[in-house]
Amino acid sequence: MPRWPFLIVPLLVNILASGGCEPPGRRLGAATVPGGLHPPLANSAPSPLPRDMLPAKLSLADIPLGLGERPVPKDSPLTEARVRLGRKLFFDPVLSADGTVACATCHAPEHGFAGPGGRPRGIRGRQTSRKAPSLFNRAYGSAFFWDGRAAALEEQALRPIADPDEMGSTVEGAVTRLKDRKDYRALFAAAFDDGVTAANLAKALASFERVLLRGDSRVDRFRRKGEHDALTAPERHGLWLYESKARCWKCHGGANFTDEAYHNTGVSWGNDRPDLGRGAVTRKDADKGKFKTPTLRGVALTGPYMHDGSLKTLEDVIEFYNRGGSANANLDPALQPLGLSKDEVKALVAFLKAL
Ligand code: HEC
Ligand code: HEC
Repeated sequence: MPRWPFLIVPLLVNILASGGCEPPGRRLGAATVPGGLHPPLANSAPSPLPRDMLPAKLSLADIPLGLGERPVPKDSPLTEARVRLGRKLFFDPVLSADGTVACATCHAPEHGFAGPGGRPRGIRGRQTSRKAPSLFNRAYGSAFFWDGRAAALEEQALRPIADPDEMGSTVEGAVTRLKDRKDYRALFAAAFDDGVTAANLAKALASFERVLLRGDSRVDRFRRKGEHDALTAPERHGLWLYESKARCWKCHGGANFTDEAYHNTGVSWGNDRPDLGRGAVTRKDADKGKFKTPTLRGVALTGPYMHDGSLKTLEDVIEFYNRGGSANANLDPALQPLGLSKDEVKALVAFLKAL
């Protein structure tokens, strides 16, 4: 049965047909300072608030074909009331200091919850130092952010509220604003015994994120149901390359096409002050320049790619791997020049788009 992620594809096609919606001026310059200050720029208001065009009812029970059992923490059970509340909060700028930025501003559904654009702009036009990752299938994640610095979705959910480049508020400030609203008092009361609290705010947002599942792709129908014609010949060729010569499976393996581990591919290495990624969290030299392997499900929607949004298209990504990544002392040994022909690059791109 087709599920909602497929409903948003026609919408995306409309957006593209209308000339695209990627805001200008988002490219990562060579002299950016990851983790540093991003002064507000004139004429750089955050993107207009994306509308919630997900289906009216999101299933709590359905696990799309190809995904395994969804882990849900015992102290944060999924309920209709929590998902409904989390969903409203996700699209509501009330969480930001000045009421201009919602979670969805940077995690818009039509961009696979990973955009729009490269490094997004939050409050007062401030630009984040990394690109927003996709929120598809985060229920299966074992650590969050590109460097894995948050251990649970509940822990992650409150950070953007207090991040000066994102929502520029404080958790207490957001809780106060929610308590002042009758609609939210009622929704929190319906979802939790103890009403509007920071912990409940985090649980509601995390619950909503846990139902953003994407599976049942043509690749799943080919692999799990043996529907040979679900994939075209070039897509099947791409799958074969993915699992052999192109070595993608070494890191993007398993049901969610990620090992949830950290690797150095050399992206953005060589900038004046490179983003240390996992190395800044563990303080180990060996982790410098490592980032969490992202899921590839829905990857056709989530460009531009990589933690800094520096690769514009999937062709650019494959060419990057074809060169063996970007040389540096910590480069993952799984990355080596692949010697893919033009047709093989095309086949891999076709396969990724079928995910
Ligand atoms: C201004 C843009 C912006 C806003 C607003 C924003 N995010 Fe993010 N989000 C990001 C960026 C950028 C990252 C990656 C940051 C990093 O890795 O250091 C991220 C990372 C995440 C992740 C980690 C995903 C993963 O795979 O590791 C989750 C989950 C998430 N955001 C949820 C939310 C929620 C919930 C809200 C609202 C409370 C929110 N975001 C608001 C930009 C934003
Ligand atoms: C050594 C492990 C490793 C291998 C092998 C590997 N990847 Fe990756 N992949 C990663 C990591 C880590 C990132 C994130 C890098 C970053 O942002 O700095 C990534 C990012 C990506 C992205 C960007 C996704 C996004 O949301 O931005 C795509 C697409 C991708 N890889 C596809 C592939 C394909 C196709 C192959 C095979 C040709 C491949 N990868 C091989 C680890 C790997």
